[in-house]
Amino acid sequence: MIAVYPGTFDPITNGHFEIIRRASTLFETLVVAVASSPEKSPLFDINERLNMVNEVLNAFSNIEVKKYSGLTINFAKQSDAHVIVRGLRSPADGQYEFELASMNKRLADDIETIFLSSGDQNAFISSSLIRQIAQEGGDITGFVHPVVQSALIKKYGK
Ligand code: COA
Repeated sequence: MIAVYPGTFDPITNGHFEIIRRASTLFETLVVAVASSPEKSPLFDINERLNMVNEVLNAFSNIEVKKYSGLTINFAKQSDAHVIVRGLRSPADGQYEFELASMNKRLADDIETIFLSSGDQNAFISSSLIRQIAQEGGDITGFVHPVVQSALIKKYGK
């Protein structure tokens, strides 16, 4: 079975990585889908985000990394996926994720959204906090892959 794990990945964090690693053991193929998300005005452009995700995940043989724009549900259909995977860090994520999953279910009844809970260790990680810490020259070792750490240091010149 094919599953899609969509996100903006601005940038990919160890929290995302953990969900991806676990999801990759559940499905034959996991497509990690990098959304263009122009409404979020990402720090990294779509190709920078795609390249970082590719580098971080290059050891996995059943993971494909793709970029897309438009609706996630359409991308899932095009990918022949029947499952969308999302991570839940805390109950606070639940409200938004419930809305997304319910709307996606209305748009395509044959595609299910499943949730994996992130471990305690990653519950507080988010891409925006990582960007903030990096911008102020703080230490982000342990939250992101070294490739992402270098990219952030380069971006902010710190
Ligand atoms: N560990 C750590 N952090 C996590 C995480 C995890 N397991 N899961 C999510 N996050 C964080 C991210 O770092 C990010 O943090 P930020 O908001 O501070 O930047 C945030 O949670 C969510 O980011 P991400 O997982 O990259 O997903 P997203 O919310 O940006 O992605 C899409 C949402 C792209 C799936 C959604 O907007 C979408 O489907 N867009 C396409 C258009 C569409 O189909 N809309 C829906 C119509 S029904």
